[in-house]
Amino acid sequence: MTDVAANSDSLTVRDNRTGQEYDIPITDGTINAKDLGQIRTDENTPGLATYDPGFVNTASCRSAVTYIDGDKGILEYRGYPIEQLAEKSNFLEVAYLLIHGALPTKAEYDSWVHEITYHTFVHENVKSFMEGFRYDAHPMGMLMASVGALSTFYPDARNIGDADNRHMQIVRMIAKMPTLGAWSFRHAQGKPFVYPDNDLGYTANFLSMLFKMSEKKFEADERLVKALDVLFILHADHGQNASTNAVRSVGSTQVDPYSAVAAGVGALFGPLHGGANEAVLRMLRRIGSTSEIPAFIEGVKDGNEKLMGFGHRVYKNYDPRAKIIKKSAEDVFEVTGTNPLLDIAKELEKIALEDEYFVKRKLYPNVDFYSGLIYEAFQFPPEMFTVLFAIGRTPGWLAQWLELVQDKDQKIARPKQIYTGDRELTFTPSSERWS
Ligand code: ACO
Repeated sequence: MTDVAANSDSLTVRDNRTGQEYDIPITDGTINAKDLGQIRTDENTPGLATYDPGFVNTASCRSAVTYIDGDKGILEYRGYPIEQLAEKSNFLEVAYLLIHGALPTKAEYDSWVHEITYHTFVHENVKSFMEGFRYDAHPMGMLMASVGALSTFYPDARNIGDADNRHMQIVRMIAKMPTLGAWSFRHAQGKPFVYPDNDLGYTANFLSMLFKMSEKKFEADERLVKALDVLFILHADHGQNASTNAVRSVGSTQVDPYSAVAAGVGALFGPLHGGANEAVLRMLRRIGSTSEIPAFIEGVKDGNEKLMGFGHRVYKNYDPRAKIIKKSAEDVFEVTGTNPLLDIAKELEKIALEDEYFVKRKLYPNVDFYSGLIYEAFQFPPEMFTVLFAIGRTPGWLAQWLELVQDKDQKIARPKQIYTGDRELTFTPSSERWS
């Protein structure tokens, strides 16, 4: 208990159970949840806590990686607007920016690209165990298991207190994700795994490992390479989203970064997160034609289902990434020919943006609404979409993990609960209960 209103950057709380008032400091627009702990009715009852499933209004960390203003539709990595990075940078430079906090000099950039390029190969045993998955294994499940398994190949990764060691694992993971992702794809197709080609850039090499057959060298259309590189940039980080929260939560136990990132891959697998673009395509296919859209929208409004690819926990405006992707889709379709589902998507967007249900709830297209259409144009099966997202998100997960392990405020993640179950029952052994 302190002097009421002694500090203007504070919150005065009156506990009507006791009549007592408390002055709680406000810093950076937040109160420290621990300060609520002093509010209690007597010595023997627990202090006041907050109830916040899904962390809708709770900051779990301080972070200098990504700025998002959901109301205005702004996204910046380390202060740089996403629109500029998508247009003028490339994925590896953006990865450097996210990890190091500043843009590289020419020497730093060259060395970074060299390091990543020369760590794209994986141990041959990785190949053997990936071959052991069932023929129809979901590539995201394969990716999750393979990333986690890398911790067994690099046991030194557990030494997370050493900066050089951390750097090594970060390079390895960014470098090897496309290899693991491409091999997960090839496995499902029953095609031989293609080794990395160190002459190619990051994204061109990924396409080579995905699609190369008997040709000596696989050279993808530059416009497709650029479009996929842009998609990786757009997915590279997004603040404390569900998968980053999973990486941070698991990372808070001080486990190695492969295990922490494997948790992130698992979180991304879910249909409400990275799996949404797969769900968008299924939805578009089910709608089938623009004439069916009104009936579909009515079903959404009646609460029968969701309009996948719409809505976002943070963006209450057009997702800035969706705008860039819509433009990328046009570039890609120039190369590959258009997809009839695009017409359904555009019409769906138009109708939804004018409908009161969506307007009132500030539901706009998110990053996943158009990304699936682009991926399909590349001839990726829907199961691969989340794998592509995971490759793009890896530098963000690692930048956030790096921040976490160096942040003195961080503790093992351990939320409170409100216990609602029984208490102090008397146990009767099964031999007596079942007789
Ligand atoms: N279609 C129809 N109604 C929706 C949708 C949607 N896509 N999204 C939200 N709503 C409605 C909710 O039913 C709710 O309505 P109510 O107030 O009448 O109950 C209201 O809008 C608020 O929605 P919440 O579920 O409270 O919003 P929340 O922030 O918890 O959820 C989420 C965000 C999970 C993204 C949600 O909008 C959704 O499920 N969207 C579809 C899935 C999707 O596209 N996910 C990708 C997100 S982007 C990413 O992860 C990369």
